[in-house]
Amino acid sequence: MIGVFDSGYGGLTVLRALLRSLPDRSFLYFGDHALAPYGNRSAEDIYDLTTAAVERLFGLGCRLVVVACNTAAATSLRRLQQQWLPDRHPERRVLGVLVPVVEAITGVSWMAAAPLRRNGGGERTVAVFATRQTVLSNAYPVEIGKRAPEVRVVQQACPALVDLIEAGGTDHSIRAAVEGYVAELMRRLPGGRPDAAVLGCTHYPLIAELFVEALPPGVDVLSQPDLVARSLAAYLSRHPDLDSCDKVPQAHFLTSGDPAQVSRRSTAFLGRHVRFRGASG
Ligand code: DGL
Repeated sequence: MIGVFDSGYGGLTVLRALLRSLPDRSFLYFGDHALAPYGNRSAEDIYDLTTAAVERLFGLGCRLVVVACNTAAATSLRRLQQQWLPDRHPERRVLGVLVPVVEAITGVSWMAAAPLRRNGGGERTVAVFATRQTVLSNAYPVEIGKRAPEVRVVQQACPALVDLIEAGGTDHSIRAAVEGYVAELMRRLPGGRPDAAVLGCTHYPLIAELFVEALPPGVDVLSQPDLVARSLAAYLSRHPDLDSCDKVPQAHFLTSGDPAQVSRRSTAFLGRHVRFRGASG
């Protein structure tokens, strides 16, 4: 059974892709809805919440956990993998959601698949929309810069979006917020436009079409859930000891929030019936 963790609903976008590409696996999802959003909290707070969530999923039998939250992964994953994990659970593994996206942006196959549309200046530009803490961590520019220093990364924090999505905001309020953030980013690219956009928060694929509509036509909006699913499938084939296929694969859902409300919204988001149980303690 593979653990999947997010602060709230966002990780469901990743889980949906994982269920599609790994139909023989069982998953246990934990959404920390009671404490979402994480994106405006301090990095230290996010680290503590993330280790507690991973510990919970390990305690329930997962040997591998996907932190399906950019904010948690960007602020905490390196420290968690390098210090906490070797000390507490050396035989288990925790993966994030940034590296598959960074590899897709900088990898040869992506560059071959996406003919370069240059911004006049000859650079390739990638826009990253994310929470405040993901932007502050600089994880996307740093990781992209290590592999492809010629790629220009322009980040845009969208501090209101996760709250609006978690609270079930109206289409109108969310659309207005997305248009505002895209306009802010475009003002920092005078005369140009990004070649590609990363929705660097797992909540945002729930409203991906609003980003597509607000961005200039032709901007390639990358699908983080699909990239993560592909990368996890490859990882599992290299590490068969971490999880096995199930004859009757199942998906279980836990929340620190109100299970009835979370189940209702998740069912609407995923388009399939989802029943969350309360995570006590
Ligand atoms: N889905 C989380 C992410 O990918 C949302 C963070 C939050 O709770 O603010 O960043």
